[in-house]
Amino acid sequence: MSDSDIQLGAGLLADVGELDQRAGGVLLLTDSNVEALVPTAWQRLPRHVIAPGEQSKCWAELERLLLALDAASLDRDGLLLALGGGVVTDLGGFAASLHRRGIAWHALPTSLIGQVDAAVGGKTAVNFAGGKNGVGTVHLPERVTIDPTALASLPLRHLLSGMAEVLKTALIAGSDATSRALSLSPGDFAAAAPAAVVVIQECVATKQRLVSGDLHDHGQRRLLNLGHTFGHALEAAALGACTHGEAVGLGLLCAARFSGAAALEQTLRDALGSWGLPTSSDTAPGDLAAQLGRDKKRRSGALTVVELRNPGEVDLRPDVPLAEVLEAFEAVLDRS
Ligand code: GLY
Repeated sequence: MSDSDIQLGAGLLADVGELDQRAGGVLLLTDSNVEALVPTAWQRLPRHVIAPGEQSKCWAELERLLLALDAASLDRDGLLLALGGGVVTDLGGFAASLHRRGIAWHALPTSLIGQVDAAVGGKTAVNFAGGKNGVGTVHLPERVTIDPTALASLPLRHLLSGMAEVLKTALIAGSDATSRALSLSPGDFAAAAPAAVVVIQECVATKQRLVSGDLHDHGQRRLLNLGHTFGHALEAAALGACTHGEAVGLGLLCAARFSGAAALEQTLRDALGSWGLPTSSDTAPGDLAAQLGRDKKRRSGALTVVELRNPGEVDLRPDVPLAEVLEAFEAVLDRS
């Protein structure tokens, strides 16, 4: 399979269909926060419920899910339904890729990060040996069902975290998409306002375009790492004190600074501040340096950074010395 079938629309979760023709068995994976969104037609399906939060994205939970797939007698024609945020879809996709050497799965992302990023493109993972997404596979969901009305129940901090990821993808897409993303507020996403749905659609289309033809992340897909070299280091150094999106937002400022895009950096800083996302961090430079040294994507001691000169003008710059990345960090974080 080269692409997932992606369906996006307000109210889709209420209209998912019965799924009773799956001879190989079906298991529904969700978390206890999202369980209330299980569609009526799926209430009778066998269900595996995990605790919400990043701590569930671990090896032990993966093993429990694999045992649940076995107990539910899913064979090679079975189907795993993953309804929830990035933890549920990353964990569910990973288990689906392993059970009987790979079964089909559907992603039904209910968080903004999940809808615009995590559930699209087939990357699956759990955290491992202290590293975020330390082990995983690439296993495309057969179908991704995106219902923006699910965002109504998302806590504000999670919504904001998703908006940083929206902004990242819009910056890759170009200036029109960026202007549309910048014009939105958290309330627009929570209310599934038509303008927010358009932006989600644009992000999904942009991600699908980059993933298509580079599923395994050796070329254009790596542009989606915009702001993430910086963001991942900040997130890891903050030891759980900041969300992924809060770190990515700061990472976008660092990427603009690194690329000499001062006016864009200011625009992004203003937007993040007006939404309520952080524009500064007191993370110690030594901690950032240590985390950059552990970057999963580091090769031969150097990093690949996604440059951001203007919306739509993004490029991979390989072989960047750690010191140069740290310089951008310090310049951005110091002046706030
Ligand atoms: N989250 C970036 C990617 O899927 O490649």
